[in-house]
Amino acid sequence: MSKPAKVAVIVGSLRKDSFNRKAAYAIAALAPANLSFEFVEIGDLPLYDQDYDALNPQPAPYVAFRDKIKAADAVLFMTPEYNRSVPGVLKNAIDVGSRPWGQSVFNGKPAAVVSLSIGAIGGFGANNHLRQSLTFLNMPTLANPEMYVGGAGDMFAEDGSLKKDDTKKFFKSFADAFAAWIEKTRA
Ligand code: FNR
Repeated sequence: MSKPAKVAVIVGSLRKDSFNRKAAYAIAALAPANLSFEFVEIGDLPLYDQDYDALNPQPAPYVAFRDKIKAADAVLFMTPEYNRSVPGVLKNAIDVGSRPWGQSVFNGKPAAVVSLSIGAIGGFGANNHLRQSLTFLNMPTLANPEMYVGGAGDMFAEDGSLKKDDTKKFFKSFADAFAAWIEKTRA
């Protein structure tokens, strides 16, 4: 068994019945026991304003968010696709965590990206736009399995569980690969 690791989960949807959030719960349930998951909420983060960088103290929601990411060993990003890119709320959280300059809480932390969409191409655009930011943030990001998950509208039962065993297997293979990736790349 590899070393225990704490994964911060950032869900880029504020929707109560978000498919991305349901998928995150499913992945957390299927993951190896050495991974623990903390959902870090982003809906209350004020829109990033560079003038805040000069404030002391920083806005309280910023401090809380940054502390939670700092305390994690790795970050799992779950993203819907909005207009072929990431939702603004997720980009805002990334901008908040990346500043003040030189103090990014993301620096060096292993990451993975999962995109879920009701459409056929599984949020490919959002997934890859997000990867562009993670490269800049110096986050070693799991390459495979690629998690472009389409058809999310028909994937979950009423109770939020995954309907199909094939999807469970796929999510499990992702969770196992992410655990191995964290073990290999964490500081
Ligand atoms: C969407 N949706 C969407 N889907 C997609 O495959 N490509 C896209 O570019 C977009 N664009 C888009 C823009 C906006 C503003 C909304 C609200 C929705 C549909 C989207 O995939 C769907 O709403 C998902 O269910 C969102 O994920 P959650 O909220 O279920 O996690």
